[in-house]
Amino acid sequence: MEIKKQSSLCGELAVPGDKSISHRAVMFGSLAKGTTRISHFLTGADCLSTISCFRKMGIDIQNSQDEVLVHGKGLHGLTVPSEVLDVGNSGTTTRLISGILAGQDFVSELNGDASIQKRPMKRIMTPLTAMGAEIESIKGNGCAPLRITGKKLHAIRYASPVASAQVKSCVLLAGMYSDGVTSVTEPVLSRNHTELMLNFFGAHVKTSGTTASIQPEPILECRDVTVPGDISSAAYFIAAGLLTPGSEILLKNVGINPTRDGMLRVCQAMGADITLLNVRSQGEPTADLLVRTSTLRGTTIEGEIIPTLIDELPMLAVMAAFADGQTVIRDAQELKVKESDRIAVMTENLARMGADITPAEDGMIINGGRPLHGAEIDSHSDHRIAMSFAVAGTICDGTLTIKNGDCVNISYPEFYKDLYSLGDNSLF
Ligand code: S3P
Repeated sequence: MEIKKQSSLCGELAVPGDKSISHRAVMFGSLAKGTTRISHFLTGADCLSTISCFRKMGIDIQNSQDEVLVHGKGLHGLTVPSEVLDVGNSGTTTRLISGILAGQDFVSELNGDASIQKRPMKRIMTPLTAMGAEIESIKGNGCAPLRITGKKLHAIRYASPVASAQVKSCVLLAGMYSDGVTSVTEPVLSRNHTELMLNFFGAHVKTSGTTASIQPEPILECRDVTVPGDISSAAYFIAAGLLTPGSEILLKNVGINPTRDGMLRVCQAMGADITLLNVRSQGEPTADLLVRTSTLRGTTIEGEIIPTLIDELPMLAVMAAFADGQTVIRDAQELKVKESDRIAVMTENLARMGADITPAEDGMIINGGRPLHGAEIDSHSDHRIAMSFAVAGTICDGTLTIKNGDCVNISYPEFYKDLYSLGDNSLF
């Protein structure tokens, strides 16, 4: 993929549906009674993996254009899959579905691509084993492929060592199949879409500080779910609009859940001109974001804000390279175990473009303001790396070439087309 400099980016865009919310709508719709209708569903490869897994467990799911119909069979309606469940590249599918599989009365196996086979699964194996499930890493390395022997589970009170919505959701979902109230306490609050949506479907989830607890055996009822635009996808256009001279972009209907909006808060600290319009709530809060070119300054990103912008850190690192002064990112060691080691990959690629970046165990330090130039960068098949550097390519001098740039189909199949639609120059 070759990206060329743009002299301005202007126009209006509705980014695709939120990935986290799309996954959950299919999962909870499958476990509810009746037909759940999902609009503005994200048809990226990750969410299609979730659909395919539930189809293999006997759920009829119709997927047409922007609407998905899930004909759910209730909490105990899944059937034994005839083959290995293929989770593709999706960590969310793997970890959330494991919580559900742990409570079934059958044995299942799941596996995915080369990246998923390197991602840590002990973080879910530990609590699920404590609940009485048998969950085995088939290669014995704590990663997928996994074999899960479902059991009647015991309720636990789990203190998670990581702030991870995937771990929290896995345990809460398993808790639905347990013999009492299951709770998860995280060191810092992570995204709360599971808690909000399970309650919307009729479950009883309570939240107090960083603890979420769930009652067992809920009766989930089908719902109509409208998925808001994904703030993690909007992030690329926020950055592009702020950094490209003469730009004004209106991003319509973006989810601004406070457990996901850290990027907006950091942008504000960096001096960004972003106006929230038409703020409303459809279960999840949403707004239209008006983004105008701004002069950005470096900042420190650390502590409790990290889980609220974890997927936006690659984009923020690129923004920091173009900003005046120093940006320090700390407490973000989770970046190492995402679709790629995002600390190493951001460092390698930004350095190739001429940036001053030093990696750390839990983040990076970027001295911004050095002129960046075109280069050949490797996405390592990580969608968020590819999109972050596509934005860098619209701003830097020279041509930026992205190896394995087609991985954007994981979360944003139309990404290059949408970026192109706002530009004044042919991107390719
Ligand atoms: C997600 C949670 C986050 C995030 C991922 C989606 C989710 O992962 O990075 O893209 O949908 O729950 P962790 O829970 O591992 O932090």
